[in-house]
Formats: sequence, C-alpha cells, structure tokens
Amino acid sequence: MKKIVTLFLVLVMMTAVFAGCGKKAPAVDTPVETETGTETGTETKDKIRVGISLPTQREERWVRDKEQMIAEAAKLGVELVVKVADADTQEQIQQVEAILTEGVDVLILAPNDASASASLVDMAKEEGVPVIAYDRLITGTANLDYYISFDNTEVGRVQGKFITDLVPEGNYIIMSGAPTDNNAKLFKEGAMEYLQPLIDSGKINVIAEQAVDNWEPENALKIVEAALLKSNNKVDAILSPNDGCAGGAIQALAAQGLDGVVPITGQDAELAAAQRIVAGTQTMTVYKDTRDVASKSIQMAIALANGEAIETNGNVDNGVKEIPSVLVAVKIVTQDNVKEVLVDSGYLKEADVFK
Ligand code: BGC
Repeated sequence: MKKIVTLFLVLVMMTAVFAGCGKKAPAVDTPVETETGTETGTETKDKIRVGISLPTQREERWVRDKEQMIAEAAKLGVELVVKVADADTQEQIQQVEAILTEGVDVLILAPNDASASASLVDMAKEEGVPVIAYDRLITGTANLDYYISFDNTEVGRVQGKFITDLVPEGNYIIMSGAPTDNNAKLFKEGAMEYLQPLIDSGKINVIAEQAVDNWEPENALKIVEAALLKSNNKVDAILSPNDGCAGGAIQALAAQGLDGVVPITGQDAELAAAQRIVAGTQTMTVYKDTRDVASKSIQMAIALANGEAIETNGNVDNGVKEIPSVLVAVKIVTQDNVKEVLVDSGYLKEADVFK
C-alpha cells in the first residue's frame, strides 16, 4: 500500500513538472521592430507575428503609416517584423525574403513595384503566409488575399475636379506618379475624367505631360522647370499627383516668381503642404487618414491569422483576380478648411500648420 501511495505521489509530482514545462512563456506586450533583420523579440509561439514591408520613408505619410502600425500592434499585443526599402524594388525583395525566412503568420506588403511584387506574394503563399497589399495594389497574382487602401481613383477625381473648376482653360502641366506604382495610374485616371473633355474641346492646352519617376520631387522640379522654359512661363495650372511632387514643382515656380500665382494640386496632407496651403503657394491637397488604414491593416492581419472573417467594402481587380478590399474615403483640403480637416481631426498640430 505504502509503495502504491509513493508511486502515486511521484506520478502527481511528475505531471506537475511536465505541465510546467509545457507552459509557454508569457507574451511580451511590446511589438518587435526589426529593420536590420536581427531578431530581438522573445520567442512566443502563441503570439501572432506580422511581417510588414514598406516601400519607403521618403514621404512623411509613410513615416506615419509605420508609426501607427507599431502603435496598433503594441495595443493589440502583436509582434511585428518591420522592414523599409528606400524606394528600391530589389531591396524590398530581399527584405521580404528575410521576413519570410524569419517566419511570420501574415505579411502586410506595400509594394515599391506593383507587378514585380507578385512573385513575393507567390513566395509567401508557398510558405502558407497570407498577404495583405497595403495602400498600393500588387498586380498579376491570384495569391493576394486582401487589399487595404483609400479610394485612389477618387483621389484623382478630387484633384481633377478642383483644378478644372478653378482653371477651366489654359496651359496645363500634367504630372503623374511613379509608373511602377498602380496608384499613380488610378490617380491619373481619376483626374483625367475632368481634364480630358476640356483637352478634347481645346480649352486646355497641355504643355507637358509626364510621369515623375520614383515620385522624386527633384524630377517634378525638372519637369516644371523645362515646361516653364518651353512656354515662356505661360503656365496656368499644374496637376501634381502628391505633395512631394508639388513641393518640387513649387520650387521651380518660385524661381520664376510664380509660386502662389499658378494653382497646383497635391495629395497626402503633409505638414509642409499644409503650410504651403496656408501660405497660398499650394492650392489644395487630399487628406488620407493614414492612421485609419494603418490600424485597420493590423486588425485585418490578426483576423487573418486567427482564420476570422474580414469585413470588406469592395473588390479591386489586380488583373488576375478581384481582390476583396477595404477602401477608406478621402477629403479635399484647401485654405478654407485646412484647420477643420487637418487640425481638428488631430492629424496635424495647429502650431505647426500656422507658424
Ligand atoms: C501613395 C501616396 C504617396 C505616393 C508616394 C502612393 O502610392 O498612395 O500617398 O504620396 O505613393 O509615396
């Protein structure tokens, strides 16, 4: 009897010991951010790990996207592996490969190049990692799971309507974004819905129509400089695809004393653009609340990792498949509503905008 009791006690103790061994380490609440590829986080298999690959930090908006993703992940207890490519497709490919090698449950990918990134999505699929395209669509792959962005054609429409209402005839410079970015195509399509009929009727005379390679402000500056020279400074309006390019274009205008004289569009509601709107050198921008899409993308990633349903509000054709999408609305910003839209929403600080 004594032997049986002893054996029983030993068994109970061993069970307790093994149970203890099986317990996973408590999850750390702070997300891990690794841009260099060095893992610094605590290994907790029960924690969702999300890989994030961003194309750039050159425009202010991408800095905000990243900050908000990190904040949301921290709030929801998700571990992150974040990498940022400097507007370089090869660099991004290597970074995504590294993220997949490290091992993640879901990948959020904002591509530098829409079509070149298809192979990355296919690679993730082979590893069983679902992919969410972020802000910019990834084209030519049926393996893309979701897309989250803004209504990008509408961004272009807002720009096109605004500038043609203000300047319904005259000499135009028409710029579009990086040809490798699917958004650039959508922005231009939206804007051309308003410009094309006026071009066709001869009211608008296009003195330059060019894509801004890599979204580089310096390239926009050169385009505008050349058009001013060619037209003997006879430019009546400029369609600029974003605030960065508007900044470059306005520098070229300023060199001829034409800043604040020639209306020009923008997009992103960057602080510098808001300041130019207040100063009167940039005529409008399009506000896209990156806080919203960044937070939502993390929530989508969690749902995807848990196999839960994701609520979408549209489908976007990537050339191969209708991608279930979450598309967020945008708002126009002019001198009249800059405070209301950008300051009152908490996006920018009043003291910074009106300084
Ligand atoms: C984004 C814009 C941004 C541009 C340059 C586009 O894909 O939608 O917000 O200004 O890329 O980074």
